[in-house]
Amino acid sequence: MNVTRKRFVPGAIDYGGSISVNYPEGRALSQEAADVWRAAVEPFISRTPAPMILDLGAGTGRFAPMLAAFSAARVIGVEPSLNMLGFAVRQRSAERIAYVAGSAEAIPLLEGSCDVAWLSHVFHHIRERAICASELRRVVRSGGRVLVRGTFADRLDGFSTLFRFFPGARRICEDLPTIGETAAVFGNEEFTLEVHRRIQQRTCGSLREFAERTSMRADTSLTLLSDDEFEAGVTALRQAADRESEPIPVNETVDLLVFQRHHHHSLNGR
Ligand SMILES: C[S@@+](CC[C@H](N)C(=O)[O-])C[C@H]1O[C@@H](n2cnc3c(N)ncnc32)[C@H](O)[C@@H]1O
Repeated sequence: MNVTRKRFVPGAIDYGGSISVNYPEGRALSQEAADVWRAAVEPFISRTPAPMILDLGAGTGRFAPMLAAFSAARVIGVEPSLNMLGFAVRQRSAERIAYVAGSAEAIPLLEGSCDVAWLSHVFHHIRERAICASELRRVVRSGGRVLVRGTFADRLDGFSTLFRFFPGARRICEDLPTIGETAAVFGNEEFTLEVHRRIQQRTCGSLREFAERTSMRADTSLTLLSDDEFEAGVTALRQAADRESEPIPVNETVDLLVFQRHHHHSLNGR
């Protein structure tokens, strides 16, 4: 039983442990959310035939089917936790999706091999963010893009239901990188912040569903709360869910940063 809340630092979450078991259910992507993200990302997927998309820190492969649905896209998921990766491999839904073990600090791909890199709720976990940005400069072709989906310390207004029941979770999220810090890391490696969008997604259709999801504790901020704080929040949320006569949807706002790699003109155009 842990009684003190832990602070967030990169590496604080062990994705080889229980979170990997609870993640698929505790972080399930609703169809509505997948559709909203598909529409948000679509303008930034290269029009090149069969674009190569890197899903960096792919986890259990939550977003790979959405990415592979773009015209003939090939998706390669890179993930360091073999437990997360094992789930992704077992759920693999298309020939055009492949997975490989690896990390953001040593991406096992060739120079200029990717048109787009997608990092969903991954960037804050990376210990060596400068090395990750340099690796992305190496593997993303000139003019290609890096799409960062995530929660940032300076944009915490999108999780009102979560923070109402788990106020300590907000303080944990205050240790995440800010948008400015993230842009600076990529700016040092020939990437320009092209677009910043705030995407509202329907995370759950009801408080009851949100209570079930949250009780799986498959989220950084919930994992780092003390057990007492976590249990108190789950109890209050379940009581609120029991009082729900009509389903109360839970919407959350998650940020999308789009970086473009500077164009370099060479004879073969890459
Ligand atoms: C919150 S999960 C996100 C998974 C997936 N992108 C998604 O949206 O469902 C964070 C993932 O980042 C991975 N991760 C942690 N450190 C990493 C690193 N240095 N390089 C690549 N991935 C990393 C973890 O193993 C975990 O699977």
